[in-house]
Amino acid sequence: MRQLIAGTWKMHGLSREAEAIATPLREAGILGRDLLVCPPATQIAAVARILAGSAVAVGGQDCHYATHGAHTGDISAPMLRDAGATHVIVGHSERRQDHHETDDQIRGKAMAAIAAGLTPIVCVGETGIEREEGREFGVVGRQLAGSLPDGFAGVVAYEPVWAIGTGRTATEGDVADMHAFIYGELVRRFGAAGEGILILYGGSVRPANAAALLAVPHVGGALVGGASLKAEDFLAIARAA
Ligand code: 13P
Repeated sequence: MRQLIAGTWKMHGLSREAEAIATPLREAGILGRDLLVCPPATQIAAVARILAGSAVAVGGQDCHYATHGAHTGDISAPMLRDAGATHVIVGHSERRQDHHETDDQIRGKAMAAIAAGLTPIVCVGETGIEREEGREFGVVGRQLAGSLPDGFAGVVAYEPVWAIGTGRTATEGDVADMHAFIYGELVRRFGAAGEGILILYGGSVRPANAAALLAVPHVGGALVGGASLKAEDFLAIARAA
């Protein structure tokens, strides 16, 4: 399976910055891996235009579970698709925390994404306290059960909350154990289709640690935050072998 290297800019990127990050990605020849960038919603159309015809796909960072309606400030999956997106992240821990998103809502968002022809990237991951208390597998298992719809056709991202933006990465052993657990859960629930679901790792992925993390069994790629704001770092991660 080809690994997917996805970058999410979170709430960063005015027009000039978006252009500066996206333009060098256009020409980048990355062999053997798929690339995706998820700019803020205001830049999706512009970035999709810059990357049109390149090997780099564009995604959203969230979507609503409805297709349209009276939901001030929200963005639907068909709108993302219309702006040029092919993917959308749902259930990121920052959305779960800042917006109190529940597994039920996230499952609805994933279903909306699939219905709109987008590939959802559903995020799961335990907090530092949950890991200290030895509850990481229970937490992630519950998030998977609640957030993934039946017949799920998308990507899962394991992002331990304590590793996001902290410079603290999970050890390769921790990543191996959790990715093996997630793989087992996906196969148990979805059968043979579960074997083909990519499981990304996210949380302080950098050029320096990317090769080691991407070599861990059942790691299907990376979801990169901070390091995706510099094209050269993002490309170095994508090229890491
Ligand atoms: P950082 O790479 O900045 O730790 O962010 C990870 C993340 O949250 C990606 O979704």
